[in-house]
Amino acid sequence: MAMITLALSKGRIFDDTLPLLRAAGIEVLDDPEKSRKLILATNRPDLRVVLVRATDVPTYVQHGGADLGVVGKDTLLESGSQGLYQPLDLHISKCRISVAVRQGFDYAAAVRQGARLKVATKYVAIARDFFAAKGVHVDLIKLYGSMELAPLTGLADAIVDLVSTGNTLKANQLIEVEQIMDISARLVVNQTALKLKQARIRQIIDAMAQALAPSTAPTA
Ligand code: PRP
Repeated sequence: MAMITLALSKGRIFDDTLPLLRAAGIEVLDDPEKSRKLILATNRPDLRVVLVRATDVPTYVQHGGADLGVVGKDTLLESGSQGLYQPLDLHISKCRISVAVRQGFDYAAAVRQGARLKVATKYVAIARDFFAAKGVHVDLIKLYGSMELAPLTGLADAIVDLVSTGNTLKANQLIEVEQIMDISARLVVNQTALKLKQARIRQIIDAMAQALAPSTAPTA
């Protein structure tokens, strides 16, 4: 029987996906925190988990390196979701994408006055769309991490980043001034795999849907 491969990223997505898999009868047999393995076995001989960078999950699933994947909506919007079937919002790894500035920076006044804002972010596409829709002129500075540092060092006036508890912003004396959108993780599926391994993939999608709270119906 052909192997089914599920792509997950280490950390929050992996941790939040485990209970859903368990509820679907799938146990991951290796602990990524304790081993350097990138391919993890499960209790199902026809199903394995591969660990990839969050931003690589759509690529793996698009090109068939994995049949299924779990990925944040932020990554799907920023890095593309072409050709991916997205059957489920898993309602896990919830957070939001927000604009934040240094304490004391008058964001509202800057926007009102039509100032050109310097915005540092790894979400360049999301930030560009958001500020364009508001009619705010921005110079976007692409960063790959630690966005919080940008306003503190004068690299930027504002950042666009994920906010969950708000603790990271608070610890760095930054203020959330606008929420751009709510984020959660999605199940994505390779379209060809869905056809070729339909019964087993459908069964996994349905079991994960069942494992979600009753209020969360599958998306189209
Ligand atoms: C995100 C984000 C913030 C932090 C916010 O980073 O970039 O740094 O979480 O969470 P909080 O509001 O609960 O403090 P993440 O842990 O996803 O890692 P990253 O820096 O690789 O994006």
